[in-house]
Amino acid sequence: MATATSTVTNHVVACDPGEVIVTENLWKTYVMGEQEVHALRGVNLRIRRNEYVAIMGPSGSGKSTLMNLIGCLDSPSQGSYCLNGHDVSRLSDDELARIRNKEIGFVFQTFNLLARATALHNVELPLIYNGTNATDRIIRAKAVLESVGLGTRMDHKPNEMSGGQRQRVAIARALVNSPSIILADEPTGNLDSKTGVEIMALFEDLHRQGNTIVLVTHEPDIAEHANRVVTIRDGVIASDHPSPRKAAAAV
Ligand SMILES: Nc1ncnc2c1ncn2[C@@H]1O[C@H](COP(=O)(O)OP(=O)(O)OP(=O)(O)O)[C@@H](O)[C@H]1O
Ligand SMILES: [Mg+2]
Repeated sequence: MATATSTVTNHVVACDPGEVIVTENLWKTYVMGEQEVHALRGVNLRIRRNEYVAIMGPSGSGKSTLMNLIGCLDSPSQGSYCLNGHDVSRLSDDELARIRNKEIGFVFQTFNLLARATALHNVELPLIYNGTNATDRIIRAKAVLESVGLGTRMDHKPNEMSGGQRQRVAIARALVNSPSIILADEPTGNLDSKTGVEIMALFEDLHRQGNTIVLVTHEPDIAEHANRVVTIRDGVIASDHPSPRKAAAAV
């Protein structure tokens, strides 16, 4: 199994109050036996509250690695990461899990739902981890499932739902703790284009409600929903500009 190197610099990041995600010189090196894979080689990224950012780039360029670091699923090998004004680059796994549960909603390409649990139970899970009592859990999980249009599918298990419905359960699960930041790694990658459009409408609503959204995609049509497109190549940011739609609206 791969392990990460633990060399971490002692530099402290400066971020202004409007910035929710600030990375400075972020490196991630996976060590596999004799071989080192430098998945990220010094990423500097600053994202302000309520931005909607698409991350694009070739396969293997480091997009998921970056999302995992931003989402506190993993720690950097070097560099600093400041999330909502707190330096989180040197926290323990337990501390990272606590921050992740509170601040971040993660949506994956493969939905990552518990196969034997109902939609309601899948959405309740993050609330079980943070100790919410059973009555409140049910009330909140039902409300968020209704908000993504699944009020009539709460008792269905993942294999009793369509792909789009499964992804909506995953989005409901990401939202149940009311995180301010939603991270999505190819959320439409396993969906047909019509269902993909429905899921993107849901992200647009979340953006309008004030959330910060960072979304990885291979598809230019999907990236156009964002306000800003960041391209990664070989572990570094190759370009960073307003999305064509946003640029056109500004003219
Ligand atoms: N756990 C790991 N152990 C070792 N190497 C890894 C690990 N995860 C990713 N890598 C390597 O790091 C590099 C970046 O991988 P990453 O998954 O971030 O790419 P990606 O841009 O998300 O690609 P894709 O578009 O195919 O999802 C790749 O060369 C990959 O092989
Ligand atoms: Mg990936």
